[in-house]
Amino acid sequence: MKAFVVRPGGPLSGTVRVSGMTKNSGLKQMAAALLAPGVTTLANMPAVADLDVMVNVLRSIGASIDWISPTEMQIDATGDLVPEAPYELVSRMRASINVLGPLLARCGWARVAMPGGDNIGSRKLDMHFRGLEALGAELSVAHGFIEARCSALAGARIVLDFPSVGATENLLTASVLAKGETVIENAAREPEISDLVELLTLMGARIDGAGTSTLWIEGVEEMRAVHHEVVGDRVEAGTLLMACGIAGGDITLEGIRLEHLEMVVVKLREMGLQVTETPDGLWARADHRLQAIDLATLPYPGFATDFMPMAVALLAVAEGTAIVTENVFDNRFGFVDELSRMGADVRNEGRHAVVRGVPRLSAAPVRALDVRAGAALVLAGLAADGETTVLERTHIDRGYADLAGSLRALGADIESVDR
Ligand code: EPU
Repeated sequence: MKAFVVRPGGPLSGTVRVSGMTKNSGLKQMAAALLAPGVTTLANMPAVADLDVMVNVLRSIGASIDWISPTEMQIDATGDLVPEAPYELVSRMRASINVLGPLLARCGWARVAMPGGDNIGSRKLDMHFRGLEALGAELSVAHGFIEARCSALAGARIVLDFPSVGATENLLTASVLAKGETVIENAAREPEISDLVELLTLMGARIDGAGTSTLWIEGVEEMRAVHHEVVGDRVEAGTLLMACGIAGGDITLEGIRLEHLEMVVVKLREMGLQVTETPDGLWARADHRLQAIDLATLPYPGFATDFMPMAVALLAVAEGTAIVTENVFDNRFGFVDELSRMGADVRNEGRHAVVRGVPRLSAAPVRALDVRAGAALVLAGLAADGETTVLERTHIDRGYADLAGSLRALGADIESVDR
């Protein structure tokens, strides 16, 4: 079994370059490349494990993928596509559902396996379905597959119940080729959406309102293949800032924009972490134990749910008591039991957790339940006496290009092992 072994360390020091956001941005752009019959190039795409799954999804659909450098891929979607995504692949990665919008727009039909729930909640698709139906598609679910058909998509006004990232993405990639104007109200505003809009616009789409809750899309006849560089990974950057908060020290992160991390930085500053913007990133320093504060997750620009598990690890060793509320997913506190095995004082009830800070944690073997839960345990290991083994590392590798490498570059004592 693959694991990380972490020994207590700090203060951290040094400079690291943050990777491209393959998991939450790049994978969606790979799916969007299906819209253009041509060769799309995506750069700043480090090879996280989920990328292999999307490569296989696109290959099974009929696109061909080539690596032209370790972080740059070409997607050739010139030929006829077979718009079907099989269960073996979709069940391994929910983001596979992002092929639904582009396939429907380009081929007029799609058959995509239902992804099901996962370790952080039930994760419904009702908003994807209602939005695509408003654009004129007919959808049904049978034998575990979503079947979607349309003779032609037509622009519509769609109001989302909640600013879902995935639904906004699927509706954007479907509506760019729909006839007439589409308006998506209560759209997600995450930087990953703005990055997708940037790609789609380069490809010829006409979209206004990226980064706001209302997106206007004027359908175009066709999309063209382009070259695009994926945005820096704000979650990796936030993870490293929190590592600095836990282990102390003085670090510089390159290749990231402060505006994408604004609320995290506001909260970390409130806790006592010094953070300053640099020309190409951020500088941070922690020279004392941080103070506990309450946190509640919200869609962007609120405190993102993807930072919550690492923030709980940080609060577990902060001074004082914090209440953490998870408003986005219905089951994201599973990792708390693992953290408690390391001596953290965390009580979870429904969507809330009370975290009472302790000065030190105690190393133990623990399991990564999902990508961010795993990252949280790695960070906890930096402040735990002894050797922490984070098992099921594959969950962490799904979203981080090289978390251990980045932490080691900052002076942390962490190694990857195969047991
Ligand atoms: N939801 C519905 N109906 C829908 C769609 C969503 O009820 O039709 C609910 C979900 O069940 C969930 C909430 O709305 O409770 C938010 O879901 P959203 O669609 O915004 O999330 P997602 O697109 O499935 C992406 C990221 C997540 C990130 C969320 C929120 C990817 C591959 N995943 O998921 O990333 O937490 O947006 O920002 O981009 C992670 O990186 O660890 C991760 C889980």
